Amino acid sequence: EARLTTRRLGRAVAYFRRLESTNNEAKALAAAGCPEGQIVVAEEQSVGRGRLARGWFSPFARGVWFSIVLRPPFNPQDAPKCTLLAAVAVCRAIRRAAGVDCGIKWPNDILFDGKKLVGILTEMSAEMDAINHIVIGIGINVNIGADDFPPELRSLATSLSIAAGRPLSRLDILLAALEELEQVYGQTLDQGFAPVLDEWRRGSLTLGRAVDVIGSGRRFSGVAVDIDADGALLVRTDTGTERVLAGDVSIRPA
Ligand code: BTN
Repeated sequence: EARLTTRRLGRAVAYFRRLESTNNEAKALAAAGCPEGQIVVAEEQSVGRGRLARGWFSPFARGVWFSIVLRPPFNPQDAPKCTLLAAVAVCRAIRRAAGVDCGIKWPNDILFDGKKLVGILTEMSAEMDAINHIVIGIGINVNIGADDFPPELRSLATSLSIAAGRPLSRLDILLAALEELEQVYGQTLDQGFAPVLDEWRRGSLTLGRAVDVIGSGRRFSGVAVDIDADGALLVRTDTGTERVLAGDVSIRPA
């Protein structure tokens, strides 16, 4: 039987059969003053949202679609690193609870076999120089068969059941994710972001690879060499080193 061992994250749970988007609901709860660690979980999302105004395929009872509200004492500039923090924690959870060896594509896609297993969408509300709240939305494809994905996603997306070769308990995955998030978040509050950035580097599929970058009205190619202290991706091009804080990075096939 599953038991939640966290102290702060996931103690307040808003559970829905169907929502447009758990991030929208979490933002509303956060604006209304919910506690830090509040989560919103839905069995299905009718308008699941992805990064860069994309959608997120969120079929009923096949994934873990949830959002978490944090109120970190960080500067707004630290928000992108919270996204890296979430990726590191979810990667750990997936290794532990599903035995699946996944990697991270900058900034926060979790991939298996070159296909997306998990997507993370972070949204922040800040006033002046302080974060009011951050909503981290996490979508984990759990029991989705290859043929269940819409045709346009089949070459891009995968699931834990495909990766592990067996169905998995969505509750086990959710609990592991909350436990790892709490651990990594607590460590960051104590020690700053350096350990997260190091763990991100170790789990990265992007560093050392030739990449194509599209974002902020720019488009260029180069080699991803590192992330900097802000979590930006550093890409070495023919003319110098470019810093990428937002955008789409595709890894060239080796
Ligand atoms: C991406 O890869 O572009 C991010 C996808 C994020 C999906 C999750 S599912 C739970 C939460 N609610 C949403 O509407 N999106 C996030």
